[in-house]
Amino acid sequence: MTMVNITMNGQKISAPAGSNILQAAKQVGIDIPTLCDHPALVSIGACRICVVEVTGQRTLITACTFPITEGMEIQTESPQVVKARKLILDLLFSERNHYCPMCQMSGDCELQNLGYRYGIDHWIYPTYTKGFPVDASRKYFFMDHNRCVLCGRCERACGDLVANHTLGLRNRGASSMIHADANVPFGESTCISCGSCLQVCPTGALCDKRSAYMGRNIQTEHIKSTCNQCSIGCGMEIVTRGGNVLRIESDWDAEINAGLLCKNGRFDPLYEDRTRVTQPMIRIGGKLRPSSWDETLKTIAEKISGTNAKEIGVLTSSNSTNEALYLLGQLFCKELKATNVGLLNSAAPKLFDKPQGSLADIVKSDVILVAGTDPAKDQPVASFFVKHAVDRGAKLILVGGKDNGLAPFATMILADIGKAVEVAERAGSPVVLYGAGITEKGASALKKLQGKAAFVAIEPGVNTRAAVAFGFNNGFKASAAKVLYALLGEQGLESADVLKDVDKKAFVVVQASYVSPITEKADVVLPMAIWSERAGSLTNTEGRVQKVSKAVEPAGEAKSDWEIISLLANKLGKKLATSLDEISARATQELK
Ligand code: SF4
Ligand code: SF4
Ligand code: SF4
Ligand code: FES
Repeated sequence: MTMVNITMNGQKISAPAGSNILQAAKQVGIDIPTLCDHPALVSIGACRICVVEVTGQRTLITACTFPITEGMEIQTESPQVVKARKLILDLLFSERNHYCPMCQMSGDCELQNLGYRYGIDHWIYPTYTKGFPVDASRKYFFMDHNRCVLCGRCERACGDLVANHTLGLRNRGASSMIHADANVPFGESTCISCGSCLQVCPTGALCDKRSAYMGRNIQTEHIKSTCNQCSIGCGMEIVTRGGNVLRIESDWDAEINAGLLCKNGRFDPLYEDRTRVTQPMIRIGGKLRPSSWDETLKTIAEKISGTNAKEIGVLTSSNSTNEALYLLGQLFCKELKATNVGLLNSAAPKLFDKPQGSLADIVKSDVILVAGTDPAKDQPVASFFVKHAVDRGAKLILVGGKDNGLAPFATMILADIGKAVEVAERAGSPVVLYGAGITEKGASALKKLQGKAAFVAIEPGVNTRAAVAFGFNNGFKASAAKVLYALLGEQGLESADVLKDVDKKAFVVVQASYVSPITEKADVVLPMAIWSERAGSLTNTEGRVQKVSKAVEPAGEAKSDWEIISLLANKLGKKLATSLDEISARATQELK
């Protein structure tokens, strides 16, 4: 790596060629203030707060955009620099309503912090009193234009990171405003509520409705975890205070998603309104009645012990952790020799023995062929990568219907997969995204691209890769089960259809987090912890094993998915691994 030697505040520094002054300063711990700059975004030099003095330059220059050159001499806090920054802050504080005590970001606002840093304790210019609107038309967060400093971070996040291009700037000068599409209310715009703009906003202009005023950063805990909502497995941070989850934030260090999250991952889990199952229950006299864990597990163990292996059925949701799926397989398939086991969702067909591509290949591709999957709807962050590639000039070939969420971005929508394969064959670096919806004929047509394309199976369920690896697939026959163990977890099943072929006299055990028509029909219900209450790991659609963290205590008497199976194994006298670390290690070993 070529290094460039510069002097900053009298200190000799070497930084990689191509760095800007801000990056070189960060490397040695010199703090140059910023407002419009954000590490995940392209620098545009809009706010001027990062100005520094460079010997030989006619004016102050912006550190976030100016590249370093050999021998450069820089002053980052000279009297001239400080004077300029104070002026910028005076203008920003005067332009709109930044009355900090009334703002939910007070204490965490980058503008307010700069005000303290440069001693801004009053308005030297008469406050610009024009009232700007507040747009609360989006479900999850609102926009208060009065707090906006027009830094453009939101616009760049929406365009450059999410590739959704909803946001823009309208009007000029002091009347400039961030707007959506052709200036429609945000809630009626093309916004897909991913919250990326909310995450990068430095002030209280964009505000999360659910967690506003519920805690400043200093009062909260940030726990790194993995999103449990789809098979992409985005890294995220669970923000808690006093044992409650306040919100979900981006993890900018996450390898897969580099800070991106979608609505399903960032907001929906916090708006869950189903009723929790909080204690073990056994049906007695036709009614489900509360019971102890010990009594409930004993009842299940007795039923299972008295049942022929062929008459035991096991059905699992793919929302379960690797640890739970591993133990379920060990207990029922290996120890109890049950063979009638199944998965609640379908899986993408296995086209090759070895992985042929990864999600990271999408943004580098020139042709993307999508078949049998709708990532815009079900795995949105993967669709952001696709749209990003399209922005860069890649062709998107959709096989199937116009109702696919990616249809508006498609170059071609083809009914014939053979034609799509022909287009991909002519590309330089094609990527194939395929899912469970692909036909056998389609799957064999795709194989023609082996060696040419990067293949990424987009699994429909969260932890489908692990479920299939541990032996759970679609071979389940409900009618053959005399005892059915259903690990539903959080899976939303609106009807009891899943039980419709189960013998009326069958003994049904349901391990679930929420009350549903299925728990209502069960003979035994075991309360299960949800995504924020359990530790373990998940395997994403590429086969990466990623940690999920327990952020808060389970509701009532609920227990983690794996713990319940471990306790049941004990009651059945089966010696399985009991500590989470040991189970995780064994599960990960089997998944390799
Ligand atoms: S929520 Fe996402 S899609 Fe909507 S405006 Fe913000 S960045 Fe764009
Ligand atoms: S809404 Fe926030 S991120 Fe967007 S321009 Fe205004 S201050 Fe910047
Ligand atoms: S794409 Fe999937 S894993 Fe990523 S945030 Fe959205 S729901 Fe979660
Ligand atoms: S941070 Fe450099 S101009 Fe805004």
